[in-house]
Amino acid sequence: MAPTDRPWRSVLYIPGSKPRALEKALTLPCDAIIFDLEDAVAADEKPAARAALAAWLSSADYGPRARIVRINALDTPWGADDCAAFAGIAVEAVLIPKVNGPADVQAVAARIPETPLWAMMETPMAMLEAAAIAAHPRLQGMVMGTNDLAKDIGARFRADRLPLLAGLGLCVLAARAHGAVIVDGVYNAFRDAEGLAAECAQGRDMGFDGKTLIHPDQIAAANAAFAPSADEIDLARRQIAAFEAALAAGQGVAVVDGRIVENLHVASARATLAKAAAIAALEAA
Ligand code: COA
Ligand code: MG
Repeated sequence: MAPTDRPWRSVLYIPGSKPRALEKALTLPCDAIIFDLEDAVAADEKPAARAALAAWLSSADYGPRARIVRINALDTPWGADDCAAFAGIAVEAVLIPKVNGPADVQAVAARIPETPLWAMMETPMAMLEAAAIAAHPRLQGMVMGTNDLAKDIGARFRADRLPLLAGLGLCVLAARAHGAVIVDGVYNAFRDAEGLAAECAQGRDMGFDGKTLIHPDQIAAANAAFAPSADEIDLARRQIAAFEAALAAGQGVAVVDGRIVENLHVASARATLAKAAAIAALEAA
């Protein structure tokens, strides 16, 4: 299955050093898991976390959940050993932190020959180089690192994320231009359900495939926000039916709920139904 065909609504970070969380995630209803060796793992724990995670992922069965390993950057003391440890382990992606340009993707590609690569988009330079990063032939996904980005910009936290919108938009454009998956950043206040729902809705409106999460309690909100709603599915079906009827009657456009329906709207409607079907298949698995 192409990575863009599977659901990425909820992408949960798990510190690679927390066995309890690794085990708990075997049954959590998230679409994907990022097993983190980078910022969630303390420096003196990194070698042990790497070894334990590599052993665990060689045998653990996460079912339909996509498995992504976030390694340390190659300019840290741990990056090269992380690459060596995970080059031969079957996971859906290796996620590279602090990517500043396509050369950072290439450096990991040279060490990990087969696994799809994803990039953390979390530096000002990454925003400016987003198109070139997305164009790398091994790059299949992007994850917004909004905490690092806000820090490097010098931005203040705002509920509307105004200071981050330029970067978020550039990364969505770059990912879509090159057919990569694009997942939004985390919402830090993990007990604030209302704030999380609002930020999920904003990310969905912008075109993100899903949201990265830090706590299991955040999964349901992301799954709901990034799935087509019942109304959207109903509208998609009616648009397709109306358009087909219009074509049969020799017309090129239809009207549904007072709005024009052209070829491009039918393509979106079919994409909505395909996404709903992919989610249903994943949840049945
Ligand atoms: N993945 C899987 N399970 C998790 C989890 C996660 N990210 N975060 C918490 N849990 C589990 C806990 O192990 C606990 O399980 P248990 O009750 O069955 O033992 C349960 O969920 C409830 O946890 P809770 O007590 O509410 O949270 P906490 O105070 O222990 O931890 C955080 C809060 C934020 C420290 C923790 O959620 C975490 O480490 N998140 C990931 C951080 C991360 O990866 N950051 C890097 C990217 S930004
Ligand atoms: Mg980061």
